[in-house]
This record gives sequence, structure tokens and C-alpha cells, in this order.
Amino acid sequence: MRILLTGSRGQVGWELARTLSTLGEVVALDADGLDLTDADAIRRVVGEVRPGIIVNPAAHTAVDKAESEPDLARAINATAPGILAEEAEKLGALLVHYSTDYVFDGGGKAPRQEDDPTGPLNVYGATKLEGENAIRAGCRRHLIFRTSWVYGARGANFLLTMRRLMGERPELKIVDDQIGAPTWCRHLAEATAQILAQAGSPARGADKPEPWGVYHMTNGGETSWHGFAAAIQAMDAPEKPARLAAIPSSEYPTPARRPLNSRLDNAKLERVFGLRLPDWREALRLCLDK
Ligand SMILES: NC(=O)c1ccc[n+]([C@@H]2O[C@H](COP(=O)([O-])OP(=O)(O)OC[C@H]3O[C@@H](n4cnc5c(N)ncnc54)[C@H](OP(=O)(O)O)[C@@H]3O)[C@@H](O)[C@H]2O)c1
Repeated sequence: MRILLTGSRGQVGWELARTLSTLGEVVALDADGLDLTDADAIRRVVGEVRPGIIVNPAAHTAVDKAESEPDLARAINATAPGILAEEAEKLGALLVHYSTDYVFDGGGKAPRQEDDPTGPLNVYGATKLEGENAIRAGCRRHLIFRTSWVYGARGANFLLTMRRLMGERPELKIVDDQIGAPTWCRHLAEATAQILAQAGSPARGADKPEPWGVYHMTNGGETSWHGFAAAIQAMDAPEKPARLAAIPSSEYPTPARRPLNSRLDNAKLERVFGLRLPDWREALRLCLDK
């Protein structure tokens, strides 16, 4: 089994390069090895590698920057997944892709289910939704994992930014009215590997329906960005803790609007694959232990 992995320098991509290696030969390419804005390169690489599984964690993830470069965001988040889907379909390969809570409009307080109506508030969310639709249209055997608030020990993320700023400033103002689940990139990669092991296994049983489609996949529980920051500081136990002031989103204007309700309901993942990611606090503890 050959697995083609994109975006191997990213948070999730870096972890996937390791967890997928027990399933087969992983051809892991970063943006220099496969530039997803280059449609010909995508077709050529897929044709050369002839993978049984394509895993695509690469994305334009700079949410605010995407507002001023929508064409680039669309090329990476929507057009490229569509081409990967066409190429996967031609080969009979499985396409695994990642999407986001930002496909929703953030209204209400209930966790969103996979089939709930979408309504992205920003360019990033809109282009990620276009990518999902292109995959659904282009490739029957697909798995799309929507996740939220991804962090890890490397890359650009809230955890690393907070740890740096907490050491530099006496006070930080942090939004407390956006609610979601911080998700450790390693847990996403481990769950993906377990699902791929199941999906390709005869032990899954021929009587079970095919699992292709969209799944929500986040660590358990919920918090605000302020709650996440407070947990980071409490677990780090610094000598001089920064004061963490809670502010509403209206006091922290950004180029991209963000949903207030980022809660995703993970019940389908548990029902179909028997997987439940640990609570976000436990995941944070494990990540900080590393
Ligand atoms: N980060 C989050 O909070 C979050 C939340 C919800 C969903 N997601 C989704 O989860 C997935 C993984 O996110 P992540 O946090 O691992 O993202 P990340 O750390 O920002 O990594 C994204 C990767 O995409 C690569 N990339 C960017 N432009 C590319 C191009 N033109 N060609 C090829 N590769 C390119 C980047 O390469 P370089 O390193 O070379 O720039 C980077 O390695 C994405 O689908 C994202 O939309 C993320």
C-alpha cells in the first residue's frame, strides 16, 4: 500500500508522516515537493506515485490573510482538493481530507452535526467548504474530517503563541465568547491511522455500510480561547503568571469574522468507527508532557 501525503511540514501533516508509516509506504511531500497551486504537478505526482490512499492535510490556514488573497486560498483549499479527488477516483484510491468548523456560521449554542446547514463567515471557511464539495463531487471513496482549534508542539498555533507572550507580557487580553474544542494534531493523526486501518480491514465486515463521507473529529469538551489560555498557564505553572483578561470578540477586531459557536458533535465518529478523542484538557496535558 502506497500513501501519498501532502503538506508534510504542517502540524497535522508532520504527525501523519509518522502515524501512517505503520500502514504502508508513505510518500510525504511538503509544499516544495508538491505545490498544490500547480494543477499539472498534482496530476503528475499522483500518476507517478499511484497511491492507494491520498491524505491531504495541506491547506491555506492563515485565516486573516485569506481575506486579502482569496484566489490563493481558493486554489489551495478548493481547486487542489477537487483535482486530488478526480485523480483518486481514476485510480480507485481513497482520499482523506481535513476541513473545519469555520464552514458553519457560529450561530446558537448546540454542537453542529455533519449534515447541519453550512454558512461560512470568512474566505477561509468558504474555500474549505468549496473543497469539501469538490471532493464529494469528484471521488466516491472519501473521508473528510472536520476539526477545530488545532495545536501542537510545532508550527504556528495558539499554544505556542500564548507560551511566548505569557513570558513577555504582564497582561494578555483574550477572547472569551468564541467556544470550541482545542484539538491536538497528534490525536487527529492517530485517529486517522486507526480509521484507515479499519477501513481497509476485512475485520470491518462486508455487512457494514461503506463509511465514506464527512465526520467531525475534535478533542472532547469545550472552552473559550480565554479558557484555553488559562489552562495552558495553569499547566505550565510559571513563576510570574501573566494576568489573563477576558474580552468579547468585538474588542478584538480581525480581518476575518470568526464563528462564536465552534462546537462540533463527534457522535458520528464514535458510532461508525468506535473512536472518541480524549477531553481537550487531557490532550493539552499530554502535549505539554512532550
Ligand atoms: N490549524 C487549525 O486551527 C485548523 C482548524 C480547523 C481545521 N484545520 C484543517 O486541518 C488541516 C491541517 O491543518 P494544520 O493546522 O496542520 O495546518 P498548517 O500547520 O498550517 O499546515 C498546512 C500545510 O499546508 C501547506 N501548504 C500551504 N500552501 C501549500 C501549497 N501551495 N502547496 C502545498 N502545500 C501547501 C503548508 O506548507 P508550508 O509549511 O511549506 O507552508 C503547511 O505545511 C487543514 O486542512 C486545515 O484547514 C486546521
